[in-house]
Amino acid sequence: MTIDGTQDETFDFVVIANRLPVDRDMSTEPPTWRTSPGGLVTAVAPVMQQNRGAWVGWAGATDQEFDPFDLDDMHLVPVPLSSEEIVRYYEGFSNATLWPLYHDLIVHPEYHRTWWDDYVRVNERFAERAARVASPGATVWVHDYQLQLVPALLREARPDLAIGFFNHIPFPGWELFAQLPWRSQVLEGLLGADLIGFQRAADAANFRRAVRINLNRSTKDTAITVPTADGERESHVAHARAFPISIDTEELDQLAREERIVARAREIRSELGDPDVLMLGVDRLDYTKGIRHRIKAFGELLNDGSILPGEATLVQIATPSRERIEQYRQIRDDVELAVGRINGEHSTLDHQAVHYFHHSYPRDEMAAYYLAADVMLVTALRDGMNLVAKEYVACRTDDDGVLVLSEFAGAAEQLTQAVTVNPYDISGLKARILMAVRMPDAERRRRMRAMRRKLRTEDVRRWSADFLGTLRGLAAARQGTAPAVMQ
Ligand code: ADP
Ligand code: G6P
Repeated sequence: MTIDGTQDETFDFVVIANRLPVDRDMSTEPPTWRTSPGGLVTAVAPVMQQNRGAWVGWAGATDQEFDPFDLDDMHLVPVPLSSEEIVRYYEGFSNATLWPLYHDLIVHPEYHRTWWDDYVRVNERFAERAARVASPGATVWVHDYQLQLVPALLREARPDLAIGFFNHIPFPGWELFAQLPWRSQVLEGLLGADLIGFQRAADAANFRRAVRINLNRSTKDTAITVPTADGERESHVAHARAFPISIDTEELDQLAREERIVARAREIRSELGDPDVLMLGVDRLDYTKGIRHRIKAFGELLNDGSILPGEATLVQIATPSRERIEQYRQIRDDVELAVGRINGEHSTLDHQAVHYFHHSYPRDEMAAYYLAADVMLVTALRDGMNLVAKEYVACRTDDDGVLVLSEFAGAAEQLTQAVTVNPYDISGLKARILMAVRMPDAERRRRMRAMRRKLRTEDVRRWSADFLGTLRGLAAARQGTAPAVMQ
């Protein structure tokens, strides 16, 4: 039932993610809907537009209930969160426990039992809501670390469903994951799915190893046999393997070819004083993105004269993110201090060394920035995939531009012609940035063309078709309507 008492509409395809693709913006009068931040929404929204279905998620506002509504061919089903749940489930367990634990402990994860209790409660609410809007035998796709208990909860409530889970962030090695006091509950929660997808083969292998060690279950290739809750019978066979996520390459390619975007790219360069080299960073303002490391390397290149004042400008676009969490306040302070220092030392009246923007831009403007930038700096300390790297390549319709890409981003496994870096090695990072800046024209084009070729086929459509095709095949085999075939 909805809050106005009407029956829920049901769907053959249901996506569940912590966030809806749009956020309620309460700062405007009247409040409006705006695109939600982050790569998950960028990747999953085009998939939804192809498979008409329902999206169950939080509307980004606290203590507010909304009835389901339709938007761009999607049926959106808002799940309410109270201010306490935002503190404990979202900012707490999801983003101050799991996020740092799954990103190599770049900052220390905190473990609090009250946070875990709310994580369980909120996962139950999402599962209940999804169970009500899923038609008999529907395909339900659960997304990301905030909702790892949902697959098993759904399996219990609705064994008729084909249940998939995709983890957008890394899955840590056992040595780190073992810290989590609720590790076995999380593994059991995920194993409720027929198919558990990860960004890299290494993430899937970490998950299967955790299952072997912690739950004492054997795995065979990608398969894990899951018993029923009483341990008496086999419930189903879950498969865990990699499905590297991607972008809507064609859409971005088309956008970047539009004359107004090309003109805007020229205008951006001219507004920046037509630097010889324009370097660009685009990230959510998150400590995992290595923004400080990149700014430090750039500052040192200016200090030691490897890059001359006036030769290069760095534009850093940082989307506000998770702003009430202490480590996010800290990274913002650190980045802003570093930017201020470099500008104090190296900017002149007619040339600013670093331009820093702490806000979001529309997609058109992002495409123009990508097209304008000679060197794209993606220096994540750990990142599940990093769609920004792929978006940069997709927008380079001129086959030009150099991508400097962290070896700790999942995207490095596909974009092998990027200039790869270890962002922890500041001297190495400086050398690789210089290599990018000085790269001969022919080499730039050769590398960019190869990466563009790859993204033309390995796009988000292929990602979702691979995942959903495999999931439906496994579910049909479980229900005895087709042989089990892993694609
Ligand atoms: P994450 O999911 O961790 O935020 P990704 O690089 O995978 O990292 O995805 C980020 C997404 O957010 C990309 O689609 C990117 O274009 C978008 N984005 C990042 N910064 C901005 C910004 N300042 N304005 C608009 N979109 C942004
Ligand atoms: C990453 C995560 C997503 C998350 C997004 C934005 O992409 O994988 O699950 O939605 O960041 O973060 P936020 O906390 O604002 O939802």
